[in-house]
Amino acid sequence: MNILITGGAGFIGSNLVRYMVKKYPACRIINFDNLTYAGNLENLKDIENEPNHVFVRGDICVKGHVQGVFEGYSIDSVIHLAAESHVDRSILVPEEFLKTNVLGTHALLGAALEYWRTSRDKRHVFLNVSTDEVYGSIADGSFSEDSPYAPNSPYSASKAGADHLARAFNKTYGLPVITTHCSNNYGPYQLPEKLIPLMALNALEGKELPVYGEGENVRDWLHVDDHCKALDIVFQKGRPGETYNIGANCEWKNIDLVKKICAILDLLRPDSPRRPHANLIKFVKDRPGHDLRYSIDSSRIRRELGWEPLYLFEEGLKETVRWYLDNPGWSARVRSGDYMDYYEKNYLRR
Ligand code: NAD
Ligand code: TYD
Repeated sequence: MNILITGGAGFIGSNLVRYMVKKYPACRIINFDNLTYAGNLENLKDIENEPNHVFVRGDICVKGHVQGVFEGYSIDSVIHLAAESHVDRSILVPEEFLKTNVLGTHALLGAALEYWRTSRDKRHVFLNVSTDEVYGSIADGSFSEDSPYAPNSPYSASKAGADHLARAFNKTYGLPVITTHCSNNYGPYQLPEKLIPLMALNALEGKELPVYGEGENVRDWLHVDDHCKALDIVFQKGRPGETYNIGANCEWKNIDLVKKICAILDLLRPDSPRRPHANLIKFVKDRPGHDLRYSIDSSRIRRELGWEPLYLFEEGLKETVRWYLDNPGWSARVRSGDYMDYYEKNYLRR
């Protein structure tokens, strides 16, 4: 079986490619990624020579690239993660999000439809990896798969657009699409533009810890390995046309989470002159349109497919912070160049 994973050089994608390459030695994993600022082949160093892993550099927005990979590698199924993924960047440059997330997903859906037209008897899957953010913000209770879409950022609006197209390709053309909505991920190889690695690395270096607004916003956290296992189960056993929420019932207010990261660093770096790291916290101007709370009801995937998260948040967070301490070269390299330009644009105006 030839499985196309798009966005496989990014945070979740690289963890998923590693997981699938190791778990399915008889399958060929074709990792298709354009290597934007967020894509990094260093994330895949330990598996670059595995015989069942092929990296193809290409852009999901370019029809020729997409058709070329389907034909060149006889693609049987797709797990689609390639996206522009950061909310703050989407506020600065929304059109890039529309292009990649909406038009790119459309190009991929079209290529799958075209390529699989003649082999309907085979089991094909197009797994569209979406986010809980398409549901907007929720004051009480949790998002179910039936919650209405109410995206509030250009990022979530563009992911919603991709989901609607994926749904339409299933309803109209019968493409075997499955969509997942996962909560916030954390773990190794996440770019330090996102909350957890940004706070851990800034604290380590004695830089300010910029908490938006009053830090009262709540996010529902899931370890990336648990997400990868969920995607694998949905890929293997999910029903085409269905949607599945993925989450670990692990809600934290940002301010409490940042304090937790500081406490972990206090423990891991007992001799640091930055201790207590929590003194570095600074409340800064809020993100416009900032969703107050995400909360995922993942009972369908648990009940129907038997998935459950294995990580305890305390353990996973500590392990993750330790990973950033143990990989200073990786962090330095991903924070050079474009990252600093973005950091200045996003934080200096706050
Ligand atoms: P990421 O930004 O770390 O990685 C995105 C990857 O996509 C990069 O490797 C990048 O090079 C690639 N890419 C971007 N544009 C491309 C293009 N035009 N053609 C080919 N490749 C392209 O993102 P992530 O955090 O790993 O998220 C992966 C997916 O999971 C996204 O679709 C995101 O919406 C979804 N998701 C993320 C989270 C989270 O907490 N990070 C939660 C739920 C869902
Ligand atoms: P982020 O990691 O960007 O994920 P998302 O916006 O997709 O949930 O942010 C997580 C939360 O942390 C969100 O409520 C915004 C907040 N945040 C800060 O307070 N400061 C920061 O510097 C960043 C990057 C995020």
